[in-house]
Amino acid sequence: MALTDQELISAFQKIVGAEQVITSPVDLEPYLVDWRKRYRGQAIAALRPASTQEVSEIVKLCVTHQIAIVPQGGNTGLCGGATPNPTGRQIVITTKRMNKILAIDTSNQTMTVEAGVILQTLQEEAAKAGRYFPLSLGAEGSCMIGGNLSTNAGGTSVLRYGNARELCLGLEVVLPNGEILNSLRGLRKDNTGYDLRDLFIGAEGSLGIITAAVMKLFPTPVAQWTALVATPSAEGAIELLNRFQAGASAQLTGFEMMSQESLALLKHYYPALASPLAGENPYEVLVEISDYESSEHAMQLMETILEGALESGCASDAIIASNIAQARKFWDMREHVPLAQADDGPNIKHDVSLPISAIPEFVKVCDALLKEKYPNSRIINYGHLGDGNLHYNIAGPSSSETESFFSAHNDDIQALIYIEVERLSGSISAEHGVGQQKVDYLKGHRGEAAFNLMHAIKKAIDPNNLMNPGKVINL
Ligand code: FAD
Ligand code: MLT
Ligand code: ZN
Repeated sequence: MALTDQELISAFQKIVGAEQVITSPVDLEPYLVDWRKRYRGQAIAALRPASTQEVSEIVKLCVTHQIAIVPQGGNTGLCGGATPNPTGRQIVITTKRMNKILAIDTSNQTMTVEAGVILQTLQEEAAKAGRYFPLSLGAEGSCMIGGNLSTNAGGTSVLRYGNARELCLGLEVVLPNGEILNSLRGLRKDNTGYDLRDLFIGAEGSLGIITAAVMKLFPTPVAQWTALVATPSAEGAIELLNRFQAGASAQLTGFEMMSQESLALLKHYYPALASPLAGENPYEVLVEISDYESSEHAMQLMETILEGALESGCASDAIIASNIAQARKFWDMREHVPLAQADDGPNIKHDVSLPISAIPEFVKVCDALLKEKYPNSRIINYGHLGDGNLHYNIAGPSSSETESFFSAHNDDIQALIYIEVERLSGSISAEHGVGQQKVDYLKGHRGEAAFNLMHAIKKAIDPNNLMNPGKVINL
C-alpha cells in the first residue's frame, strides 16, 4: 500500500533525524528553484543525510515506495538538473552535510573527499597541504565536488589540467537500488574491466548519487602571471592562443575570452571591473602562465610571447598584471560576466564547444544570422577559448526587454545556433550538461546509436527510473 507523504516523512526522519528532513515551505524553497530561476519544482521534502550509509538507506526506502530522487549539491547548475519536477512526488537529497575531507596523501598526490565539500574548500585544503587543486570556476564558493563530478565541470584551467573527469581517480556511489559501489582508490592505472567511474561522472545524478571521490593533486606553481590582451577579431584571438600554446606549452594555464558586448555589460553592472585597456576592443583575452622555475622565468615568457603577438597584429594592446590584486581583478572581470548577465535579466544561454579552428566561422555566421533576424539583440560572447568552449548568449535589446525577448525567441535562436554547432562538428554542451534544458536535443545531437546505448545503460542501472528522472535522458 502506498504511504502518505506524512508516513514517508516519518520514515525518512528515522534515517536522518527529524531536523534533517526539510518540509516547511520557506525552508524548502531554495531546493526547488535553480540558480538562473528558469526552473521550479515541488518536493515531498529535502533530506540532508550525513553519511553514505544514510544515503543508501534513503534510496532503499525510495525504491520500496517508488519515490524519485533528485540529488543536489551547491545548486549552481545552469541546466535545471538539480531541480525537482512539478509533480511534488520527488525528494531532494542534498549532500550539504557530507562535507568532510577524508584523507590527503601528498605522496600519492591525492585527496579523498565527501561529495558535499565545497570546491573552494577543496582548493584551500590542498593549498594547506602544500599542493594545488586546479579545478576552478566562478561558482567555486558554493558548488560542491559531487556536483562538479556529476556535471563533469570545466572552468578556467581545463586547457592545462582537464575537466573534473580527468581530475578524478576514484568514486564512491550509492546506486539506484541503494547498494554502495566503492571504488575509492587513488590509482592512476587500473585495467580491470569496464570503467564504471566514468559512467557516473557527467551523469548529472541520473545513474546514482556520488558520495565521495578521490581527486588528483598537483605541485603548486612557483609563479603565475596574468595578462589582459586586446585582439581585433576572433581570428586574432585564435592566433594569440596558438602563439601562447607554441611558446608556453604546458605553462599556459588560462585563456579566457570576452567580447566587447560582454565587457560593456560588465562595465554597466560592475563599473569597478571595467576593462583597464583603452578603447572598445572587439575581444579581450585573459591569459595566465604558471611556472615551476621562477617568477622571472614566467615573466620573460609572457613578455616574449606578447611582443611577438603585438608585432604580428593579433594583439593590439596588453597589460600584464603587476601584482596579485591586479591579477585577481582580471579574473574577477571574467567571472563577473555571467553575474552581470544574471543582473541584466534572462538570456538565451549557450555552452557550446567547437574545434578551435572553426570558432571564427561559427562567430561570423551566427553573428550575421542574428543581426539579420534580430537586429537589436545583444550577443554576449565569452568563454574558455583555450578549450574551444563559448558561452554565446543572446539577450534582448535592453534589460527591460530581456524577459519578453527570451520568451518569444528562446527556441528559435537555440535552434539556429545548434544548426551551426552541428554543421561545424561541435557540441551543444561543453561543460554545463544536459539537465532538463537540453533533454530534447540529446538524441539529435548524439545520434541514434549513441542515444540507444545511453538509453540501455540508464535502463540497466536505474530500471525504475527513480534517479533524477527527466534529466539527461527520458526513459
Ligand atoms: P548542482 O547544481 O547541485 O547539481 C548539478 C547536477 O549534478 C544536477 O543534475 C544534480 O542532480 C547532480 N548532482 C549534484 N550533486 C550530485 C551528487 N553528489 N551525486 C549525483 N548527482 C549530483 N560550470 C562549468 O563547468 N564551468 C564554469 O566555468 C562554470 N561557471 C559557473 C559560474 C557561475 C556564476 C555559476 C552560477 C555556475 C557556473 N557553472 C560552471 C555551473 C555549475 O557551477 C557547475 O555545473 C557545477 O559543477 C555544479 O555543481 P553544484 O554542486 O552546484 O551542482
Ligand atoms: C562561465 O564560464 O562563466 C560559466 O560557465 C558560467 C556561465 O557561462 O554562465
Ligand atoms: Zn564556462
